[in-house]
Amino acid sequence: MSEGIGKRFQNETKYTPGSLAGHTLDFGSMPSTFKEYSNPILRIPLTEPKAGGETNIWKLLVKRRSRREYSTDRPLKLDDLSLLLWATQGLTAQYGGTFFRTAPSAGALYPVETYLSVRAVDGLEEGIYHFRPGKYDLELIRRGSFSARLAEAALQQSMVLHAQVTFIWSSIIARGKWKYNQRAYRYVYMDAGHIAQNLYLAGEALGLGICAIGAFYDDHINEIMGFDGEDETVIYMATVGLRPPDHPI
Ligand SMILES: Cc1cc2nc3c(=O)[nH]c(=O)nc-3n(C[C@H](O)[C@H](O)[C@H](O)COP(=O)(O)O)c2cc1C
Repeated sequence: MSEGIGKRFQNETKYTPGSLAGHTLDFGSMPSTFKEYSNPILRIPLTEPKAGGETNIWKLLVKRRSRREYSTDRPLKLDDLSLLLWATQGLTAQYGGTFFRTAPSAGALYPVETYLSVRAVDGLEEGIYHFRPGKYDLELIRRGSFSARLAEAALQQSMVLHAQVTFIWSSIIARGKWKYNQRAYRYVYMDAGHIAQNLYLAGEALGLGICAIGAFYDDHINEIMGFDGEDETVIYMATVGLRPPDHPI
């Protein structure tokens, strides 16, 4: 039997002593760490995030759970969504020309982009939005309801139908490849994991229900989102919903 792609991937993206010899960086061709759409339907500024809810990190770590049951009778508050976005990718410091964010990123290259499928958020129409952490706003890039199509593409996971918002994270691989070449394919998933954990903890602080989603038909999600699947491709998703009162999880 031939070696699977997993083993090959592990091998071909390995560092070995000497494999970095002679590697230099061309800062002139360093890709931007920020994406924006040239003609979004709308740009919606977000409110300044104000930390809220439970702030004891130790309690949050104990309570954090993947929560898949959501009440559908109310929308999510826009202020809460703003806080979740900040927790996942907010800018927190600048040194020289580099902006640092709430979640770590290999080489501070930030290859992960954040999109939202909004079903029910105060003050936002339904649609697909792109988050710009630098400008701290949302770009509406597609109008309408995408929950059913996304749920189907996420292997019929019904929590996507009921979630007030679904986060969709893509990677722009060129950002990491500029420094790490093939190893960049490892790092985008590590970056996404950090981002998702920040979402889990911030969601827990606000009493919201979060569930990570790694099971989806990649091509189908890419088509819905307008990603080409190579330069930019979906890597991870997560639902955000209002927790039903008295639900055990
Ligand atoms: C990489 C990854 C992918 C996941 N994908 C899914 C998914 O597609 N559907 C789902 O219901 N849960 C998914 N989960 C959530 C796990 O099922 C959950 O984290 C696990 O059961 C442990 O439970 P806990 O998060 O409540 O501690 C995923 C979690 C991770 C880290």
